[in-house]
Amino acid sequence: DPHPINAAAVLAWYDRHARDLPWRVSPADRAKGVSPDPYRVWLSEVMLQQTTVAAVQKYFLRFTQLWPTVFDLAAAPLDAVLREWAGLGYYARARNLHACAIAVVERHSGIFPKTSEGLQSLPGIGAYTSAAIAAICFDERIAVLDGNLDRVLARYYRLDVPVRDAKDELRAALQANVPGRAGDFAQAMMDLGATICAPRVASCLICPLQPDCLGTRTGDPTMFPVKPER
Ligand code: ADE
Repeated sequence: DPHPINAAAVLAWYDRHARDLPWRVSPADRAKGVSPDPYRVWLSEVMLQQTTVAAVQKYFLRFTQLWPTVFDLAAAPLDAVLREWAGLGYYARARNLHACAIAVVERHSGIFPKTSEGLQSLPGIGAYTSAAIAAICFDERIAVLDGNLDRVLARYYRLDVPVRDAKDELRAALQANVPGRAGDFAQAMMDLGATICAPRVASCLICPLQPDCLGTRTGDPTMFPVKPER
């Protein structure tokens, strides 16, 4: 890897600045060895695929109040799930959510598979969601790459082609840098993309990646990712 990511700096930043979100485990509990609940992480990741963190929180709290475990969600009538989903959009996702809960109960006795590969066999769980759950809940050393990470990495590497032409390279570069604390690293990079390396504003002065970031050296990291020609 010719231009490594300083994962230790990213994790140190996360230890101080992680957002306190209802599906996360507090640093104090993490220190006691508590890991995130796969049911809650799965639910949050499915909700977050189409909606912002700010908007998801109240839906997440409502769902987990009504259905605290995967058994409760699997036993719920589909129409109740769809009703609570109203406002999140893409009802196919809510149908898949319910189907997935049933599959976890019926095929796996209510226990989510512990690898990204096993998770991908479930309804509605694709490459992104399986990687996110496996990293966050089981510290699987796997790259968790969403659109926000595409932007962060395009800036970091000063990518001179559109992201869509470099997907495999970005994934390989991220994968090569995933540390043992894979779940914290994934969430740190997500928080960094949301709060520091945002689409229109890059707050490089407070960024843990700044010392090695090629984009910031150009003077205007928001020039990246470059847009496809059309
Ligand atoms: N966006 C998608 N998944 C997320 C997570 N686990 N934390 C913060 N933002 C996210």
